[in-house]
Amino acid sequence: MLIDSYQRRFSYLRLSLLPVCNFRCLYCLPNGNPKEVLHKKHLTRDEIRRLVAALTGMGIKKIRLTGGEPTLRPDLLEIAHAISEISEVEKIALTTNGYKLAELAGGLKLNGVNAINISVDSLKPERFFEITGQNLYFDVLKGIEASRRAGIEAIKINAVVLNGVNDCEIEDFIHWAERESLNIRFIELMPTADNGDFFKSRHLSLVFIETLLEERGWSLEKREESAGPADVWSRPGSMGKIGLIRPYSSNFCNTCNRLRVTSEGDLQLCLFGKGNIPLRPLLQDDAQKDELEHFVRSALGQKNFSHFLHEGDYGSTRNFATMGG
Ligand code: 5AD
Ligand code: SF4
Repeated sequence: MLIDSYQRRFSYLRLSLLPVCNFRCLYCLPNGNPKEVLHKKHLTRDEIRRLVAALTGMGIKKIRLTGGEPTLRPDLLEIAHAISEISEVEKIALTTNGYKLAELAGGLKLNGVNAINISVDSLKPERFFEITGQNLYFDVLKGIEASRRAGIEAIKINAVVLNGVNDCEIEDFIHWAERESLNIRFIELMPTADNGDFFKSRHLSLVFIETLLEERGWSLEKREESAGPADVWSRPGSMGKIGLIRPYSSNFCNTCNRLRVTSEGDLQLCLFGKGNIPLRPLLQDDAQKDELEHFVRSALGQKNFSHFLHEGDYGSTRNFATMGG
């Protein structure tokens, strides 16, 4: 088992497949991809296979493929397949903006992907365009439908709440969750090194959604041990679920169970951390497995108990496109 100095157990890897995205979300890549990321050399399929094989040997059971936008990687299905062949892997998940899912969902399912998170920040096509810079709202909806048809077991919708932009749509999202039995998660806007001014004007605490849910007869579910950062709410008589992800809430870091690896193979101990720990030199040969394990274990010893957001320190991550949120 991978355990840190605070007795947190790590069972979950978020692996970015490339730092590039085709959307320009206002809070992430408002000006598109920075030039320097286009030259970055992302991990090869063999390097990924070695990484996952070593980490699953230490108790990692769930792998989430992220980006940037992971579906932009031409070998996505081959990567999923290679991971699915590692016997300790229990779950392969994908986080995507959804634009290509209508085409890919069936192949993803066949290659072992059983959970997909899809970003939908607005239910109004024009506002969707304003937020993402792409006129692809209906393609994303088709992607959700295709994922359901393909039999992907766990589908979650992510919506980042932006003050004065989409906060008027919370009720619409809740109705959508009820009507379509969807699992929708509202994510509180998080600051990054690049989105400072935007964060100041658009950040909104999500406490108001708790009040709203209570008024509407929803209640907070008991947290499962393996649960992620979301507080999950449900309502009797509805199959839909609402998750709240609030990085400023007091228990956000207590249950941290995840490691992150960037598309270039750097280990990141925290979403809001500073500095990367390069693993790539230890991914060049199957024979390096023990050395890699040892290295990851000692690196984890440096993990802090909590982020420093409350002190106004949000680390050195420029945007989440480099490491998949
Ligand atoms: N704050 C909150 N959520 C963010 N995401 C990307 N950047 C931010 C941010 N600054 C979300 C995306 C996607 C998930 C991977 O992270 O919208 O749902
Ligand atoms: Fe939007 Fe995600 Fe792309 Fe960033 S990486 S621009 S949040 S779709």
